[in-house]
Amino acid sequence: MPIDTEIVRVDANNPDADVIARAAEILRSGGLVAFPTETVYGLGANALDPQAVGRIFEAKGRPSNNPLIVHAPDVEAARQLVAAWPEAAERLAARFWPGPLTLVLPRANTIPDIVTAGGPTVAVRVPAHPVALALLRAAEIPLAAPSANRSTQLSPTRAEHVAEGLSGLIPMILDAGPTTGGLESTVISLTTPRPTLLRPGLISPAELRSVVGRLGLREETADTHAPLPSPGLTARHYAPRARLEIAENGGAQRVQDLAQNGVRVGWLTFALPPEARQPTAFAGVVAYVMPLSPLEYAAQLYARLHELDAAGVERIVVAMPPETEAWQAVRDRLHRAATPP
Ligand code: TXA
Ligand code: MG
Repeated sequence: MPIDTEIVRVDANNPDADVIARAAEILRSGGLVAFPTETVYGLGANALDPQAVGRIFEAKGRPSNNPLIVHAPDVEAARQLVAAWPEAAERLAARFWPGPLTLVLPRANTIPDIVTAGGPTVAVRVPAHPVALALLRAAEIPLAAPSANRSTQLSPTRAEHVAEGLSGLIPMILDAGPTTGGLESTVISLTTPRPTLLRPGLISPAELRSVVGRLGLREETADTHAPLPSPGLTARHYAPRARLEIAENGGAQRVQDLAQNGVRVGWLTFALPPEARQPTAFAGVVAYVMPLSPLEYAAQLYARLHELDAAGVERIVVAMPPETEAWQAVRDRLHRAATPP
């Protein structure tokens, strides 16, 4: 039976206290609330209540072997969630929290198994969005929150994206407009001899190294063609509905060939070739010229893919960004999105 999903507008910088109090009450009584963070929208539940967390897995259709990130309002609250707080955690938290960095640490024994997929570690982060922080403070409980999308699909950067996937499955979505980061947090493990990057994200390896020195092995394979491993993740993830192809050479020829064969194509490119102005060569192609800066690109990527899905394209061709560390997170998401189901 579908339930009514209430979508409530809140000011991104100054959320209405009554709305936040209502959302907090839903969370405290075991319900789910989707809320904005500075990266993507999250689907929150009381992290200390296994039944509440179970509802996240149900709503998302998420495999139970994929652990969740637990969100806290400040460093002190985050420390309650872990059994050890090494020097590296102290320094990373001081430098990047609140912000898009997730630390994997030994879990405190208050954290239910369902949150960690039964493992000995827990992922924790203090988000930087005023609405997320207001909600965490009002609820006075830590919130387990994956991205608020159905499993393997694109992460939501707007409340409308959340509604597309989860309407009828959750009671409330807090709508604070588009998120600014656009890509998920960087996940780093501090349970290995050296801090190890598990998921590249908005905080770059260079920024991490500036705080903790050399990273563990995984980072040295900086940008292989295989997605970086993370527990419980199938390679396909962050995927639009349309099949996505990576073009190492920009894709102009490929796009043109597909279009001439009658395929409705979406194209993420860095530059439109002069031929694109001839209506016949690129007929029906929906093209977006993407930013040349990795952070600006990240902020737009999912929104563009959502738009291409909404436009009903059958194929998405993406001009691959350069194979440099600064583009690592974007390239990782594109490789995952291009992995066949
Ligand atoms: O930006 C973000 O991180 C967003 C917002 C909502 O905070 N959340 C998010 O959550 O992207 P999710 O569940 O979509 O991705 C969590 C990632 C997964 O790759 C998961 O495998 C990894 O973090 N993860 C969670 N707990 C872990 C653990 N104990 N050890 C290693 N990886 C873990
Ligand atoms: Mg996700």
